[in-house]
Amino acid sequence: MSKKFSSFDRLKFSEQPLPELGDGEVLDKQNVIPGLDGAGTVVAIGKQVSRFQPGDKTFEPSTGGILDSTLRTYGAFNKHALVRAPSTLTAREASTLPCAALTACNALYGSLDHVVKAGQWVLVQGTGGVSIFALQFAKAGARVIATTASPSKVEALKQLGADHVISYKEAHRIEAIRMCGVITIVGFLAGRSGDNETSFQRCLAKMFTLRPVFAGSRVQLEEMIEAVEAHPEVLREGVWAGGASGGV
Ligand SMILES: NC(=O)c1ccc[n+]([C@@H]2O[C@H](COP(=O)([O-])OP(=O)(O)OC[C@H]3O[C@@H](n4cnc5c(N)ncnc54)[C@H](OP(=O)(O)O)[C@@H]3O)[C@@H](O)[C@H]2O)c1
Repeated sequence: MSKKFSSFDRLKFSEQPLPELGDGEVLDKQNVIPGLDGAGTVVAIGKQVSRFQPGDKTFEPSTGGILDSTLRTYGAFNKHALVRAPSTLTAREASTLPCAALTACNALYGSLDHVVKAGQWVLVQGTGGVSIFALQFAKAGARVIATTASPSKVEALKQLGADHVISYKEAHRIEAIRMCGVITIVGFLAGRSGDNETSFQRCLAKMFTLRPVFAGSRVQLEEMIEAVEAHPEVLREGVWAGGASGGV
C-alpha cells in the first residue's frame, strides 16, 4: 500500500506474507472492507489474548491514517483495537459502524454534560454517513432537523425520521443555535475558513459549547453495540442501503 494517503488512486495492490502474530495480537480475516473500517473473523490469537477466540466476528475501530488498517485481506491487530461485532447485524452492516456511527453516537451522547435529551432539537448537517447515523440515533427521543442541498433527498430524510428538512444553504448555523446549545465539530464540509468561521466572539454571544469529537473510545463503541443489539429498530434499513459509509 502506498505511504501517501491522499487518494485511492495512490493505492497499489501487492501480496504480502501473513503477519507474524505478537502475544497480544489477533489475526483477523477481513470479510468486508469499506475503507477505513472493516469487519472480520478471528483466525488466530496470541498467547496473551483472552477477549477473543478463533471464529469470533469482530470489527476494527478506525485505525486507518495512523496505523496499517483494513485495506488488506488479513491483519494482525492489537487485542485492544478489536471489538466484538453486533450479533444482530451482517458483516456488511457491522462494518459501517466503527467510524461514522460511533462519531454520531459520541456527538449525541458522549459528553455527560451535554447528552441529548428527549424533546430537544438536533440539527444534522448534510446527508453523509455521520449525519444519517446521528439523525437515527437522535430520534430515540429528540426531534431532528435535517439539512441537504439536494431536493431529491428530502423524502428519504423524512422516511428516516427527520421532523423537518431544510437547505443548509438557507440556514445560518450560528443564528440557529439556541442559547447555551451545543455545536459538535466532526469535520469541515463547507471548507476550513471563510465567512462561516466561528469566532470566540460569536460563541460568547450565544454562550454555546463547541465540542470537537474524534470518533470515540472502544468503550463507547461497545456501549453503542449493546444499544444497537437491544434496539435494532433504531437503525433503519436506509442506513445500510445507502452504502458502506451509511450516507443517503
Ligand atoms: N471527527 C471524526 O471522528 C469524524 C469521523 C467521520 C467523519 N468526519 C468528518 O465529518 C464530515 C462528514 O463525514 P461524512 O463521511 O458523513 O461525509 P460525507 O459522506 O462526505 O458527507 C457529504 C455530504 O455533506 C453535505 N455537505 C456538503 N457540503 C456541505 C456544506 N457546505 N454544509 C453542510 N453540509 C454539506 C452534502 O449533503 P447533501 O448532498 O445532502 O447536500 C454531502 O452529501 C467530513 O468532514 C469527515 O471528514 C469526522
